[in-house]
Amino acid sequence: MQDYVQKEFSEQLAQISDETLRKKVVDVCIEALRTGNDGKGWENMDFPFTLLISGVTVSFSDHVRIVTDLASQAADLLEKQRIPINRDILIASAILHDIGKPLEYVKTAEGVITKSKVGNRLRHPVTGAGLAMKHELPYEVVQNIYQHSWEGDKGPGRTVEGEIIHRCDFLHYGPLKISMENK
Ligand SMILES: [Fe+2]
Repeated sequence: MQDYVQKEFSEQLAQISDETLRKKVVDVCIEALRTGNDGKGWENMDFPFTLLISGVTVSFSDHVRIVTDLASQAADLLEKQRIPINRDILIASAILHDIGKPLEYVKTAEGVITKSKVGNRLRHPVTGAGLAMKHELPYEVVQNIYQHSWEGDKGPGRTVEGEIIHRCDFLHYGPLKISMENK
């Protein structure tokens, strides 16, 4: 599973300069994949990244790569405007922003992806933040995972990196949803 995660996110992980942080990011991914699917685990990250767009074929790993790449490119532009950005925190948080989703979903015997037992109780920002805390990721990363969706609208305020991830997450989700609805 370690080789698989490292290969899936190789370009994104390479942007994290702190080796310890990089390893922790991979460890969190591995634990989510091993304990998700209501404890049965996932063999890969090919399951759909959302249940809110009917007919979506974009996988969880595709979404994580797209959001991380959008965040990285946004950071390039914003840094030119002298907005300070912690790249390690940005990339680690982006790779992990949806890491609660392997716990939130389950694959039924019929092969349908739906909400898991955990997912019916706790949204993925909560379970993802919990996993990140367990693996002693920096508090900024835990905060960014917890606040990447509407939970972050209620404060405390998002970090600069968290605000970028929040926008990039919806920058992928929004246009994709509209394009699918217009098909
Ligand atoms: Fe997301």
